[in-house]
Amino acid sequence: MNAHQSIRPFLEWLDRTGDLLRVPDTVDPFHEVSACLSLADRGPALLFEAVAGSPLRIAGNLLAGRERIAAALGIAPAEISERILRSIREPIWPVSATHRAVQAVVERDAPLAALPVPTFFEREERPYITAGVILARDPETGRGNASFARVGLLDGRTALVGIAPNHHLALFARRAAARGRPLDIAVVLGAHPAIQLAACLYLGVGDDELECAGSLLGAPVELIDALTVDLRVPAGAEIVLEGRIDANVSVPEGFISEYHGMYENYGPGVFATFSAMTRREDAILQVIEPGYHREHIYLGALPIAAGLLHGIAKVVPNVRDVAVTEAGAGRTDVVVQLDAPRPGQARRAIHAAFAAVSLVKRVTVVDVDIDPWDPVMVDWARMNRMKLERDLMLFPHSGTDRSEPMEEGGLVTKAGLDATAKPSDRAEGIERALPPAAALASARERLRACMPRVPAWLSA
Ligand SMILES: Cc1cc2nc3c(=O)[nH]c(=O)nc-3n(C[C@H](O)[C@H](O)[C@H](O)COP(=O)(O)O)c2cc1C
Repeated sequence: MNAHQSIRPFLEWLDRTGDLLRVPDTVDPFHEVSACLSLADRGPALLFEAVAGSPLRIAGNLLAGRERIAAALGIAPAEISERILRSIREPIWPVSATHRAVQAVVERDAPLAALPVPTFFEREERPYITAGVILARDPETGRGNASFARVGLLDGRTALVGIAPNHHLALFARRAAARGRPLDIAVVLGAHPAIQLAACLYLGVGDDELECAGSLLGAPVELIDALTVDLRVPAGAEIVLEGRIDANVSVPEGFISEYHGMYENYGPGVFATFSAMTRREDAILQVIEPGYHREHIYLGALPIAAGLLHGIAKVVPNVRDVAVTEAGAGRTDVVVQLDAPRPGQARRAIHAAFAAVSLVKRVTVVDVDIDPWDPVMVDWARMNRMKLERDLMLFPHSGTDRSEPMEEGGLVTKAGLDATAKPSDRAEGIERALPPAAALASARERLRACMPRVPAWLSA
């Protein structure tokens, strides 16, 4: 009932298409759930039907790739960037819900103890909520914000939240602390994938991601009042944790996994106290395998790619697509596709990409005949269309984020690679050696006639 703004419709779709593996045996949230998700990284979504010490089920590895995220939005992978851009240009305001599914069960005494939160990696010191979209409001303006941040459990009521200092949630917490107050938060688990994707958008301070989520959903997000904090929360989610964070109180965190797949030691996290856990009757706890894993990578990558497309198009209008690669964990390595670039435009696109997102460390520019999401073809262009002494540019001492593995004092050397074809580079020209177009067309028909269904490699 009222499940259309939770992860349930997508889980059902995965089940129907054979992309959901149900695990009936009892699994332990301590390392075992994480080990299963880690192994299934390129495999199906997992639904753990029996979890040690808890009546709740756990689901993970859901939005692990472009195809899955596109399917969750009901569109094709090639449409994602345009759709995300439209959600920023044409946001849809949330509305009041007519149901309170996420508040069917309420736990106030030990809100965190009621959840089977996994411990993921060997050197991490505690269980982490990794799929929590944290809602908060700017203490200065009242405007909302939604973003992912890890919540590390300390006991049944308290936790630490690990937030990069430049993220808006950290800014709001500091603004509240400056007024001598903690900041109300709601950690939302298992909301519709559109809400999760929107939470990864890089918008201006005061631009509320829930309005973009409505646009991505094609319908307003349905909200209800939280029970113990001054926030409105998605009525259709699986679980909501209500609490407060205090930027004046910090807790040592120790080693944590980062998107590049290694550990980081950022120092202290922000202290949080939780006053209530509300959930659906038969709630499913969504978890995202953190670190260098596909769900973590692609949820971040697609909003970054759309943002870069938007930023680059302002100065290089013939940009066609932007990919943020899996090798760069969906954050640091970017491929820009230009249509018939004029001399100098590739370099301009490289500068624009660096200017738009500080995390970006390498930008490769390719022509329209190269699919930027295909790493082998992008590498082919690098190998065959570049004169390194001319087309490889290094930018030493460039500003970056604390998460960059090679940063020193906030700086790293960045690289731009112009892998577009320059016709004058080869006396023989740059034409690809292929059978004639007419021969290819008739061969396609001949092979299609031999097959029951047209496979992807045979589609035009
Ligand atoms: C699965 C997932 C987990 C994330 N975890 C964290 C985290 O623990 N801390 C953090 O600062 N950012 C984390 N992020 C990134 C932020 O959610 C993201 O950059 C967001 O756009 C920041 O929001 P803001 O622009 O409103 O500040 C995570 C992203 C994803 C997809």
